[in-house]
This record gives sequence, C-alpha cells and structure tokens, in this order.
Amino acid sequence: MSTKDKRIKLALVGLNFGKHIIESQLLDGPGSKYIELVGICDLDAAKAKTFGGKYAVRVFESLDSILKEPEVEAVGLFTPPRGRAKLLDSIISAGKHVMTTKPFEDDPAAAMAVLKKAKKLGKVIHLNSPSPVPSDDIRQIFEWRDKYKLGQPISARWETYARYFEKADGSWMDDPGKCPVAPIFRLGIYGINDLLQLCGNPKEIHVMHSRIFTGRPTSDNAQMSIRFENGCVSSILGSFCINDGNVYPNNLIIHFEKGTVTRSILSSEFFGKTRDKVTLTLQALKGKDEKVTETVFIDRDAISGGYQWNNFHKAVRGGKLENEISPDLIVNSIRVLNAMKKDQFSNTSAMID
Ligand SMILES: NC(=O)c1ccc[n+]([C@@H]2O[C@H](COP(=O)([O-])OP(=O)(O)OC[C@H]3O[C@@H](n4cnc5c(N)ncnc54)[C@H](O)[C@@H]3O)[C@@H](O)[C@H]2O)c1
Repeated sequence: MSTKDKRIKLALVGLNFGKHIIESQLLDGPGSKYIELVGICDLDAAKAKTFGGKYAVRVFESLDSILKEPEVEAVGLFTPPRGRAKLLDSIISAGKHVMTTKPFEDDPAAAMAVLKKAKKLGKVIHLNSPSPVPSDDIRQIFEWRDKYKLGQPISARWETYARYFEKADGSWMDDPGKCPVAPIFRLGIYGINDLLQLCGNPKEIHVMHSRIFTGRPTSDNAQMSIRFENGCVSSILGSFCINDGNVYPNNLIIHFEKGTVTRSILSSEFFGKTRDKVTLTLQALKGKDEKVTETVFIDRDAISGGYQWNNFHKAVRGGKLENEISPDLIVNSIRVLNAMKKDQFSNTSAMID
C-alpha cells in the first residue's frame, strides 16, 4: 500500500458523543476504511481507561500529550463547541489535521481565524455540518436548480426530531448561554447549514421555544425563522418531544420560483431494504407550462450531516477537493446561532391576549 492510500492514524478526544463516533463510524463503519484509531483521551481519566481497554487502544492523558506523539496524524475532536477554536489552533499548530463536529464554535471571529490559519499551514479542518463539500442531496438540489432554471429560493421549511428523556446534569446542555434554544443549537444546526447552502446569506431570525417534557432547564421544543438577504423566508423546527418511529428525519421542503424540492426519509421498513433511504422529489415547470417531476433515492449515510471520511482522507493525503465550501459558510452558521442566543429571551414577539 502506498503512503497515499494508508489509513490516517487518528486519536479521538471527548468520549461522550465521541464513543458513538468510534463505535458506529471508525471501528466498523464508513470511516474504518480511511481511519486507524490509535488512541483516545478524555478529561475523565477513569472513563478514558475503561474505553481504552474496550477498544484496545492507547489512552493519552491529555490533548497535549497527543500533540507530542509523532505517530498521530490527526485528531478527532468531540468536545463541546465553546472554546473549540482554541483547541483546533493548538492541534493544527502541532502539525496535525482535525475532524470535528457541529456546532463548530460559538465565536465567529475565533472560528474564522483558525480556519484561515489552517489554510495557511496546509492543515485540514473538517466537520460534519457543514460538510467540506456539498453532500449528495444538496448537490442534487443544485443540479435541478441549474438544469431546470428554477430561479431564486423563495421559502424553505426544515424539521427534525426525536424523543429524549434527559435530566439536568450540570453540563453545557443545561446552560442557555452555552446551549441556546437547545433543540435548534443541538439538532436544528443541521437545518441551518442546509439552508445557508441553499438559500444564501442570512439577515434576520426569530425564535419561539418551549419546555414540554425535559428535565433540563433548557428548552426541548423550538422553531426558528430565518430571512435571507435575497428575501427568502424559512423555518427550522427541532424537537426532543416526538417519537413517531422515524427519528431525526431531517425533512426539507424548498420552494424556488419555478419548482419545489422535497427531501424525506423512507424508513427501511417502508423501502423494503436493510438501510434507510432518503427520497428527493422535484416538481417544476419547464418552459411555460410543461410539468416536470423527478425522484432520486440517496443512501442516508450520504446526506448532509454525515462525516465525509473519504474526503478527509483525500485532503489529508494532499488531494484537492472539488466545490469545497467556504469558511464563510461555517462562520455564517455561528452568526445565526449567536443571533438566536440574543433573541432567545427577547420579548419582542406579540403575546396573544
Ligand atoms: N450527544 C450527541 O448526541 C451529539 C450528536 C452529534 C454531535 N454532537 C456534538 O459533539 C460535541 C460533544 O457533545 P457531547 O454530547 O459529547 O458533550 P459532553 O459535554 O457530554 O461530552 C464531552 C466529553 O469531552 C470531554 N472533554 C471536554 N474537553 C476536553 C478536553 N479538553 N480534553 C479531553 N476531553 C475533553 C468531557 O470530559 C466529556 O466526556 C458537541 O459539539 C455536540 O454538539 C453530540
């Protein structure tokens, strides 16, 4: 095997959501072809020791000790979003690449600075949302938009949900300063990133949220509207209160001037396959009055929000990615989240008497 094809030696930091990444993506999943897990680390040393034994990998005592290990080529950073840019800076400055997760940061200036620095140093920073290149579903929407000259986006609706049974545990997810409008910050972020790619530069937001079942002090049911510079208006629903058997559907309807695209999950039971598929449907007008409908099915792993381990491997090994997203897209989503944080307790909406 040439050096170019060799798997990337990665150490993973943060073993809450990070252990799910190890188990579902790296040990035996879509990342296993591209990544060799060589170590783990968590502030909770006992936890790290337990999982080090379980996965039979080296346990590092800190991120710093990982950065001093020449064998490690990349870090999987699965710590909370606040302060992530600082950790990213130390990782790229030590000459390592990074795969991380949404939300990228909560400080737009710090995020932009570290993304620029990574470019300058030739180090790769990728995350799952927004993904480094548009995912198959987003690319299909762009293709239809151009093929049928659908015009500008007019309106979009995005939603996802699951049923959580969470209790307060003192973590960042209990703190509205660190986790504002929780269902949007934690789940709706995927929708924000989809809509920023599809609809353009965001201009204004409004938020509505409530607590129905949650044991945390933060909300568990929320909706946010975004108005874009081009006049497009949209809404995003995130909820931890719904279980209809089809969790995290990431449903989307987007209307352009001359056509509408719908994205929805077909669960495996419905589709008669072992894996869920996502269906994308276009309804459009071609020319003056010719109606067009098209449908495509996409593997759920390939839709937006997934980790593009293949592109991470390609970029780390020096390959050029086509249609790479701009840092502005990542930073714009942070600007939206920050506006949401400001708006979460505002009393500017009209209460119904
Ligand atoms: N929980 C989920 O289902 C989920 C799903 C998708 C993405 N994410 C994202 O993953 C990230 C982490 O979320 P989480 O739910 O695991 O958070 P968490 O706060 O529950 O866990 C973070 C873990 O990282 C460790 N950690 C923090 N800073 C560290 C450091 N400097 N060095 C070593 N270890 C450190 C903590 O000890 C903890 O075990 C967030 O950005 C979140 O949005 C979470």
